[in-house]
Amino acid sequence: MDKKFPKDFLWGAATSAHQVEGGLDNDWIQWEKENAKRLARDADKKWEKWQQDKFPEMFEVSNYISGKSCDQYNRYEEDFDLAKEGGHNAHRLSLEWSRIEPKKGEFSKEGIEHYRKVLLALRARGLEPFVTLWHWTEPVWIGEIGAWENNETSKYFIRFAERVFNEYKDLVKFWMPLNEPGTEVSLGYMFGNQPPGVKGKISANRAFKNLMQVQKNIYKIAKSVSPDFQIGCSHFMFDIKSYNRLPWNVLATKIMDYFANHRFFKAFNNSCDFYGIQYYQPFNVNFKLGGNFFGFFENKKIIEKQSDLGWQIFPEGIYNVLQKASKNGKPIYITENGLADAKDKYRTEFIEGHLKYVQKAVVDGMDIRGYFHWSLLDNFEFVEMRGFWPRFGLIEIDYKTLERKPRKSYFEYQKIIRQSKSS
Ligand code: BGC
Repeated sequence: MDKKFPKDFLWGAATSAHQVEGGLDNDWIQWEKENAKRLARDADKKWEKWQQDKFPEMFEVSNYISGKSCDQYNRYEEDFDLAKEGGHNAHRLSLEWSRIEPKKGEFSKEGIEHYRKVLLALRARGLEPFVTLWHWTEPVWIGEIGAWENNETSKYFIRFAERVFNEYKDLVKFWMPLNEPGTEVSLGYMFGNQPPGVKGKISANRAFKNLMQVQKNIYKIAKSVSPDFQIGCSHFMFDIKSYNRLPWNVLATKIMDYFANHRFFKAFNNSCDFYGIQYYQPFNVNFKLGGNFFGFFENKKIIEKQSDLGWQIFPEGIYNVLQKASKNGKPIYITENGLADAKDKYRTEFIEGHLKYVQKAVVDGMDIRGYFHWSLLDNFEFVEMRGFWPRFGLIEIDYKTLERKPRKSYFEYQKIIRQSKSS
């Protein structure tokens, strides 16, 4: 890879609290306890035969209980050492609301102090923190009032955010208040296959509106706490294309693009300084009764190389989504991009391939300022409650001993970063 990345480009990896910390008590933990058995029992309906054979742990109840996870709550220094050794100069993480405000209106000194230490540990290693305030989980008391379906949640979240901004304003410049609101709204409030497990368009609409409003309000508050803060909107993007020219596929592609992207950018464009774009795979829209997109469309698989989750590996797609996002005129950080790959078979070529296209985007004049691989370490893949078997880490976790083992791709990523810095 040659070296045309901006000098101050940020290089790092991303995680989220619920997926790595362990020892939590929030509304998702409750959901795990109530649903783990069912999820283990139904794994054969959800995954293909090759996946079931390769990852038999998906049939175990423990796969669906996050429990101590990677125990990053106690091991963050070790993890940040590894990030630093990997050449990273930035790191994306989330703060867990339930640690900071475990009971309504009662802010925990211990929780606040913990994250101060975490942020200091990042700074001490020269890692620029990118801090997410809501990576989908809420304190139990918020879950009890219906989370984002309830307008009250916005009020409480804003109070929490304001407190956090004030607590850590000396340590953090880049904030991403919400992680992929669109994803949680559709999976948690429309299809109900992750917490809070609600199924309904009305609920989803209400949740989306609340989240949109929250981002707007938080943007203003953040700027009043410090005009130097850079506030990001995180957005998940498929590279959406019609599988062929059949008119219904072409039309469905437009509709999907409208709801997934256009509507999002329109709603959020005035309440952020940058976009955090999160890209994993293409979506080749094809009509199929029973397909997983509104029951009528499937993501047609046309690429042979696929991750352990069956996601197609398509590096060029990152260029396409960056091009689309760039039209909004804001700087972009790629705040997630990665794959589940337990054997580390494709991760190196995945990173190289995607970064080539990021580089092309930069050369073509797009304002791309950083790349965060998902993820630093294997973790609890809580999207659709898949559990521990999908392994996204540059660093492998032995969940029995909690030993961290950098994979080959960790060193390859390190090489790429070093090369880009020596240019
Ligand atoms: C989420 C992560 C998740 C990743 C892989 C993203 O949408 O923000 O939490 O682990 O996708 O599924």
